[in-house]
Order: sequence, then structure tokens, then C-alpha cells
Amino acid sequence: MDAKTNTKKATLTVDGKSVDFPVLSGSVGPDVIDIGKLYAQTGMFTYDPGFTSTGSCDSKITYIDGDAGILLYRGYPIEQLAEKGDFLETCYLLLYGELPTPLQKKDFDDRVTRHTMVHEQMARFFQGFRRDAHPMAVMVASVGALAAFYNDSTDISDPKQRMIASMRMIAKIPTLAAMAFKYNIGQPFVYPKNSLSFAANFLNMCFAVPCEDYKINPVLAEALDKIFILHADHEQNASTSTVRIAGSSGANPFACIAAGIACLWGPAHGGANEAALAMLAEIGSVDKIPEFIKKVKDKDSKVRLMGFGHRVYKNYDPRAKIMQQMCHKVLKETGHANDPLLPIALELEKIALSDPYFIDRKLYPNVDFYSGITLKAMGFPTSMFTVLFAVARTVGWISQWSEMIQDPHQKIGRPRQLYSGATSRDYVDIGKRK
Ligand code: ACO
Repeated sequence: MDAKTNTKKATLTVDGKSVDFPVLSGSVGPDVIDIGKLYAQTGMFTYDPGFTSTGSCDSKITYIDGDAGILLYRGYPIEQLAEKGDFLETCYLLLYGELPTPLQKKDFDDRVTRHTMVHEQMARFFQGFRRDAHPMAVMVASVGALAAFYNDSTDISDPKQRMIASMRMIAKIPTLAAMAFKYNIGQPFVYPKNSLSFAANFLNMCFAVPCEDYKINPVLAEALDKIFILHADHEQNASTSTVRIAGSSGANPFACIAAGIACLWGPAHGGANEAALAMLAEIGSVDKIPEFIKKVKDKDSKVRLMGFGHRVYKNYDPRAKIMQQMCHKVLKETGHANDPLLPIALELEKIALSDPYFIDRKLYPNVDFYSGITLKAMGFPTSMFTVLFAVARTVGWISQWSEMIQDPHQKIGRPRQLYSGATSRDYVDIGKRK
């Protein structure tokens, strides 16, 4: 742990007894109070549902300043990485901590490319799924099943095997994602083509068919590559924390990433772009927006503006700005510039940025608001949106998992609770129960 104990201390007074706790400083961002000895010293736990005030680990990977709308991977602003680099460069950066030299980049690209094919038996494994299965259900199962196919890289105590498992997942999860898509629409699987870039290969595996040539549109390949960069990591979000907790027990990396995919599936997390698009379709036209906004403001309706708000960003999500520009570019390229959902999205954004309800609660558009429209224009059905998110986030999950495994302070994740259930009582025989 590189965090420094600083001269500040935090004092907690309970029933007149004061206890001091060390305050730790990272390289940037808020200090944290080290409460590791709280229970030993006071007999009390903290209570923080949703971990809104809890730092769960010491990490060097991703930094977010939610108030300023800043996102850095290993110190580099997301805007610069998205503008100047490519996704595999971001993968290298997240995994190794530094940008690669040209030689390192070529070697890394080659290593990922070597692993893109999945075991042929996987195709038969897929036959067991219903055709109408949600691709995320197929992803949870097939990524978990990788442990059964690549048992040789499940030894987490061996750094070489950990890296092989990492390469395998960065390379094979896109192949599985494309297979989940093809299986769902009843088309034959398309094998990876290693002469293509990461994003172009993914488009080819998703949209090529054996009966005709598929020409990769470079604008779409570039946009997809940027979408992958924007979603590659996001600090200790719900799915990443899930991966870390799963990994803290020593579970194999394939199982941990499958756990992360399961968590990402939820509509409050990775499922939000699917939900945002469904919401735009439900609103239907710009003139219906005021009615919808009225519902959003009515607490009893439980309706939320999907694609708005974020646990950490209390400012414009920097990824949403890049996504908005890309959205316009892709719509123009694909001839979907007249997509009826776009004016609804733009009007909603305008209202949310000027209405006191949203301003007071600091609810800004998040990355999912525009990614749904963009992916739809690229030809992906809504059920694939979260799958694409999982493809991109795989490298973030793996980097965080790997960092955790190497952390000498790492312990099994085991929160405590505030128990409010029945106190001890005696068993009543079934015949005597009323
Ligand atoms: N629409 C309307 N009101 C909202 C929204 C929203 N999208 N989000 C939050 N609020 C309101 C809440 O009702 C609450 O109001 P109150 O103070 O009057 O009770 C206030 O804002 C704070 O909301 P919380 O739920 O406490 O905020 P939290 O940080 O827990 O939630 C979350 C963050 C889950 C992302 C939430 O904003 C949300 O549900 N957004 C819609 C779903 C979405 O877009 N998720 C994607 C997240 S980004 C990602 O995963 C990549």
C-alpha cells in the first residue's frame, strides 16, 4: 500500500470514550479514515448501505473526480486516450500501468490476437442454450465455463498463468459475445480474423455471413473502438467490486469475471443503455416529454430518467460528451440521422440541464444515454448493448482482479451487518405451531 498516513487523525467519541483513527492520503482525491481497528477498539461496526462513504481498497488504476467530471486511466485523461489511442493500447495501460512502446504494443496486440479463437467444443456447449436466451445469460454461463476449457490457467498463485488467463479473456470474450449474438439470431458462428483490428474483428464476427462479403465500415470500427475505450474501467463500481469480492476468496479468474458480468446485467448498472433506449421509445415523440418529466418528478411513480444520474459523477460524465459526438457521427454515417429517438434524446438533455429538479440533484446525462442510440444505429439489437459493455469492461475487471491478488493487504471480503431480525428463540414442534 502506497497510501501515506498523514498528520491528521480522526477522533470518534462514543459514550464519552474517544478513539483516534489514522487518516490516509492517496496521490489525489479525498483522504480516507482507516477504520480497520474500529471493531476491536469500540465493539461497533460502521453502517453504510451501498458503500456510499466506504473505500474498499487501495488502487492505482482509475481515478474519478465526480464533481469535476474527470476520469483518468493510470493518470491519463479519458478524452486523450479516446482521441489518440486505440482500445488495445488502453488494455495494455490498464494491465501494466504504462503506455506501451511501439515494440510492446506490437507484442501485446500479437499476444491478444493469438488467443481469439475459443475451444471448438464451446460451439457445442452453445447448442444447449435456447435460441431466445438473452445474450447476457449466455455470457454469464459461457465465460464461467471458460474455467472448464482452460483449467491450466486457473492457478492464481502463478503470475504467468494469471497473465495467460487475462490474455485469454480479453481475446475470447469478444468471440463469445459475437457467438451469443449469432446464436440468438440463428446465423452460423463467424471465426475471428486476426488480420483485423480488435473492433473491426468484432464487427466482422457479428455481422459477416458466409453467403456474401462483409465490408467493414472504418467509421463504425473507430466508433466501436472508442466505445470500448470509454467503458474499459471505472474504478470500484458494482461489477468491479463484485469481481474483487469473488476473487478475494481465491476463486479462479474466469469465475470472477462471470460474476462481474452477472452484476453488470442489472438495469441500474450496465443495463442502463438498454433501459434508456426503451424509455426514449416509450416517450415516442418530443411533445410527450413534459408529461414524462412530470412522472419522473413524482416520487410515487418510481419512474427514473434512464441514462441520467450517477453515483459518482455529480457533473457531466466526461464519457457522455465523447459519446454524444460519436453518436452524431455514427448516425450520419449509417443514414440514421433522422432516427426519431435522437430529437427526443436532445430535448430530454436540454430539459434536464435546465430544470431545477435535475440541477438540484446534480443529475447529468451519463455515458449510457447516448451509447444506446449509437449501438442501435450500428446494427446491434438492444439485448447486445450490455454484452458490448462487458466486452469492454473485461480488461478493467481483470486489471482490478490482478491488482487485488498482488496486494499484500488483501483479505477475503467479508462485510458485517446491523442485525434487526428475531432474537434467540426456541424451536416449536410443527404440530404445536399456530
Ligand atoms: N431520474 C430521476 N431522478 C433521479 C435519477 C434519475 N435517473 N437518479 C437519481 N434521481 C434522484 C432520486 O430520486 C433522489 O431524489 P431525492 O433526493 O428527492 O430522493 C436523488 O436523485 C438521489 O438519487 P439516488 O438514488 O440516491 O442516487 P444514487 O447515487 O444512489 O443513484 C443511479 C445513482 C443508480 C445511477 C441513479 O442515478 C439511477 O437510477 N439512474 C438511472 C439509471 C442509469 O442511468 N444508470 C447508469 C449508471 S452509469 C453506469 O452504470 C455505466
